[in-house]
This record gives sequence, structure tokens and C-alpha cells, in this order.
Amino acid sequence: MTQDGGRAVRIDTSRPHPARIYDYLLGGKDNYEVDQVAGDRLAAAAPEARIAVRANRAFLHRAVRYVVDSGVRQILDIGTGLPTSPNVHEVAQELAADVRVAYVDNDPIVKAHADALLSRAGTTSIVLADLRDPQSIIDHPEVRRIIDFDRPVALFLVAILHFIRDTDEPERIVATLRDALPAGSLLVLSHATGDFADDRSDAEAVYNSATATMNLRSRDRVERFFDGFELVEPGLTQVPFWRPDATPAPGSEEIGFYCGVARKSGE
Ligand SMILES: C[S@@+](CC[C@H](N)C(=O)[O-])C[C@H]1O[C@@H](n2cnc3c(N)ncnc32)[C@H](O)[C@@H]1O
Repeated sequence: MTQDGGRAVRIDTSRPHPARIYDYLLGGKDNYEVDQVAGDRLAAAAPEARIAVRANRAFLHRAVRYVVDSGVRQILDIGTGLPTSPNVHEVAQELAADVRVAYVDNDPIVKAHADALLSRAGTTSIVLADLRDPQSIIDHPEVRRIIDFDRPVALFLVAILHFIRDTDEPERIVATLRDALPAGSLLVLSHATGDFADDRSDAEAVYNSATATMNLRSRDRVERFFDGFELVEPGLTQVPFWRPDATPAPGSEEIGFYCGVARKSGE
């Protein structure tokens, strides 16, 4: 059990969770046997999975630096994952101490770990909420305490939208969040794809028994999430190729993760 605003929330350790599979693939310790089995199956079905999650995480860090260098001082990070050093707020606040960060995840384990990490940080907070109900995130009092929706916000949807089924209308979800943001806000997004492999059905199947399904999407579908935003250079790329700090490692061309950063322009 963990607590959410005084409400007891049960932690399910009988089924693999996306956050814990990801943590396992990153080499973390906050996972259970079911997650390790799922992670090993994923790595067998998609041999680049371990370098892919690291490359995604490195993109996340570069994107945080881009956001802060652009002058944006508020980050809404939905699907934050288990704390993995360095975390978004640590990268951001090292560059500018006044950056405010609202983390959102629907996994009670993520919230429990983040609460422990953030217990004394008043400008950084974690909220238990579901991306499939975006309005509940926008209206959440704790999100509102951290984020002023009248000033530019960097919305992070990094490695989360592929856990949203088409029937939950991911484009509508992103549009709802976009419409709550003022001009000058940024969207930071990454998304798993099968575009660089012959067949990824085995990798998707690993998530059939998990708490969220895996929904790989093509380049066209991922591009559509940026409707109403303008992609900044270099546009939509695979994660190792977005403003890399060094020459991308051999094998980077096979990584099935698109990413981009985009700015919301004035109406
Ligand atoms: C692969 S992790 C990504 C972590 C981090 N954003 C990163 O890229 O390093 C995906 C996270 O999304 C969360 N998640 C999945 N579906 C969600 C939903 N419907 N609402 C909120 N969070 C969700 C999972 O619990 C997990 O923590």
C-alpha cells in the first residue's frame, strides 16, 4: 500500500508495470521478478531495447537543457517514471534554480518513490493521475500550485504515448493539453515505433499481460501529435540524433524511438 492524499492505493506486483520494466532495462533496482521477466522478453524480441531506453533518457536530458536555455521555467512531465538520477528537476534546477516541475504518473509506486525524493522540495511535486483523463491533470490543485498556465510551460510526454491505445484517442489527449498551454510553450515528446524493424509484434506482445499495452506507431502518426506546434530543428528524429552532444553510437539507426521538441505559436 501507498498513500495518495490520505487514500490508500494498492501496489500491484502480480503484473509487469511499464515504469518498472523501464527501470529494469535502465539497470535500476525498483522492479520485481515479473518486470524482470518482461524486460528480458522485450530485450530478446527487440535486441536494441536496452540501448534504446538509454538513448531515450539521454534525449530527455538534452531536451530539459534546451527548454531551460530557451527561458521556459515550468515543466509538466507526464509519465515521469521511477526516479532515475539525474531526474528532470535536477537537470533543470542545476541550470536555473527557479524552474518549477510538476511530475505526473498513474503508477502508485512511481508516486511513492518520488514523494520520498521530493519531500522537502516545494517547487517540485508529483501527482498521481492518468493521461487518459487530461483535463483531470490540468485541473489538479497540486499541478495548479506548481504550474501557472498563463506563462509558458514545457509539456513532457516522453516515452508515454505508446502506452495509450488508439481507442483512448491519443491525438485528442495531446490536443486537450495543448489547448491549455499559452503561446511560447514547448512540447517534448518521444514515442516507440516499429519503423526500423521488420516485425515488432513479439515486443508489443510482452505488454499484453502488463498494466498498459504497447502501441508502436509510424512516423506519420507520431508527427500528428505535434499539430498546433512548430517543430524546432532538427525536427522529428530518432532519439540519438536529436541535437546529440557527441557522435551517436554505432547501431543508433536501429533505435525504434522517434522524438521531437516543438513550440506552440500564437493564435
Ligand atoms: C517508459 S516510462 C518513461 C519515463 C520517463 N518519461 C522517461 O522517458 O525516462 C513510462 C511512464 O509512463 C507511465 N504511464 C503509462 N501510462 C500512463 C497513463 N495512462 N497515465 C500516466 N502515466 C502513465 C508509466 O507508469 C511510466 O512511469
